[in-house]
Formats: sequence, structure tokens, C-alpha cells
Amino acid sequence: MSENNDQKRKNLKVIQFDKNKNTLIESEQPKETFKDVGGLDEVKKKIQMSFILPLQNPEYFKAYGKEAGGSLLLFGPPGCGKTFLAKAIAGEIDANFLHLELQAILSMYVGESEHNLHDIFEKARELKPCVLFIDELDAIGGNRHNMRQHHERMLVNQLLLELDGLQSFNDEVYVIGATNTPWYLDPALRRPGRFNQLIFIPPPSEQERELILSLKTAGKPQTSLQLDKLAKKTVHFSGADLTQIVNDAIELAIERSFELGYLQPLTTDDLQQAAKKRKATTLEWFSTAKNYATFSDSNGDYQFVLDYMKENRIR
Ligand SMILES: Nc1ncnc2c1ncn2[C@@H]1O[C@H](COP(=O)(O)OP(=O)(O)O)[C@@H](O)[C@H]1O
Ligand SMILES: [Mg+2]
Repeated sequence: MSENNDQKRKNLKVIQFDKNKNTLIESEQPKETFKDVGGLDEVKKKIQMSFILPLQNPEYFKAYGKEAGGSLLLFGPPGCGKTFLAKAIAGEIDANFLHLELQAILSMYVGESEHNLHDIFEKARELKPCVLFIDELDAIGGNRHNMRQHHERMLVNQLLLELDGLQSFNDEVYVIGATNTPWYLDPALRRPGRFNQLIFIPPPSEQERELILSLKTAGKPQTSLQLDKLAKKTVHFSGADLTQIVNDAIELAIERSFELGYLQPLTTDDLQQAAKKRKATTLEWFSTAKNYATFSDSNGDYQFVLDYMKENRIR
């Protein structure tokens, strides 16, 4: 990275709510960048084109009388890197990054959560150019028979208001949302100018699984690991599942070290043993997604989920 970029990065702010959930605080910029996210090259490219390049070159948009800015909605099975990827964007850009976990403000008193939602959008406008990441959008609308329904309705309305505000008053504010269950989202949130661009974050391919395994075992004491073998045996496993396998395997190696009285490196066998005890956690998601894609997908939003299932023989 050039010195100029380093200089800029010192001014970069990562802002989120504090533990008491009512004060916006600056937190440390995450160290992760796109390199730490294994695979997802298409998605990274898409984010590069629609977020990172426009942030760097807003003059191209201005020349055409267009405002830079916009929103994306990441969706897919749990544990496949939505949150991880969005956080890595903070490490990629020379812009401010605001991180909002919707669940955190939903637990507040009625009125207070809307107020806080407004605060964070205000902050985003103040700090532009900036990326606002709203994680856990499933928190609103996950269960329609929930007691909190009215509360959630108010929060959805506030979110709509803020997103529309971005459209009309604000350039250079970029919003990324993430959810496991986009079909539960209020359709109003999906209209043009709001979260109208959906990006599917699929489970890692065999090659990507090997890459994720090598990222997660990097720097640990190890024999030469046959990660390709393991990648073959972990079809449909998520990045989080693979991380769990590596952690379990490390525990086995540590246990062995204690038994033998000297440091034991991680082996392929440790990883295979650990893998045998775990199942892919993405399949349940696909069976739910299939229902929505088949019976209530009037926009064809989830066609690529069906295509993915066909290509990967998920039934
Ligand atoms: N593509 C990936 N590359 C590296 N690590 C990953 C990847 N996908 C998931 N992980 C690991 O799994 C963890 C959980 O992923 P996360 O981003 O929280 O999933 P999601 O938000 O999609 O439910 C991450 O913190 C990361 O350690
Ligand atoms: Mg997440």
C-alpha cells in the first residue's frame, strides 16, 4: 500500500454501538481484508465495481450528473461469510465504515431503537464517503407471530425512511445489508432505491474449501497437510463449519501434546477425525430456500439459488 493510502487510513473510522447499545463509539479498524476471505471472487469483484471503485472515483458519477452510492443485500446460508466479507470491506476501503447489528438495537425500548437507527444514518451522512453495514436484517420480520411485531413494524418504517433519505439527499453513502432469510423481509424494503440488489453468498466450492482450510491452519504447528483430501470430503460445508473442524483438530493435537509431553504438530488425521464428527450446516437452509424459490418468488430473485442447487445436486 502506498504511503498516501496509509496516511488516509489513519483517518478511517469504524463506528458501532457500545455495549449498552445507546452510544455510538469508534472501534478499531478490523485487520481483515479480502485476502482473508477465502474464495467468493465473483462477489468481491461485484463489490469492487459497485462500491469500492465508485468510492475512489466519485468524479465519474458526478460527470454524468449521477450520485455515487447505493445498496446491496447479501444473503445465503449461515456461516458462509456474509458478516466476514462485509467487515473485510472496512479493511479494503479508504472510507469510513459503520457497523450496525440490528439485533442489538431491536432489544431496546420502543422508540429508542428507531431513534438509534436514525442516529446511525445521520452519522453515515456526516462521515461520507462511507459504508454502512446493517447486519442481521433477519431480526426484523423473522417471525410474524412474534410479540414484538408492532415494535418491528416501527423499526421497518424507520429503516424505509432512512433508506429513502439516502436516495434523495445523500451521495457517497453506501449501504450493505445481510440476512439469512431475505424472503421474510418486508417487500417494501426490496423496492428500487432500497435493497433492490440481492447478492447470493453460496457455500464454498471444493477449491474454496481447500483455500479456507489453508487460511485457518496457516501459522499453526503442522505436518504437511493434505487439505485437498479434506476439501473433497466436506461437500456443502460452510466456512464456519470448516473453521470449527480446524479448531476441533487443533484441540486434538494439543491433547496429544499433553499426553506425550512435547508439542505435537497438527496432522491430516486430526482434521479428518474432526471432520467425521461434523455435518454440513447449509443443507437445512437450502430446503427452506427451495420452498420460497419454488412457491413465492414472483420476481425470480431466487432462481440462482435453484440453479445452484441443481448444479450441486442438492435436493
Ligand atoms: N469464505 C470464508 N473465508 C474465510 N473464513 C470464512 C469464510 N466464510 C466463513 N468463514 C468463517 O466463518 C465465520 C462465520 O462466518 P460469518 O461471516 O459470520 O457467516 P454469516 O454472516 O454468513 O452467517 C467467520 O468468522 C470466518 O471465520
Ligand atoms: Mg452473519
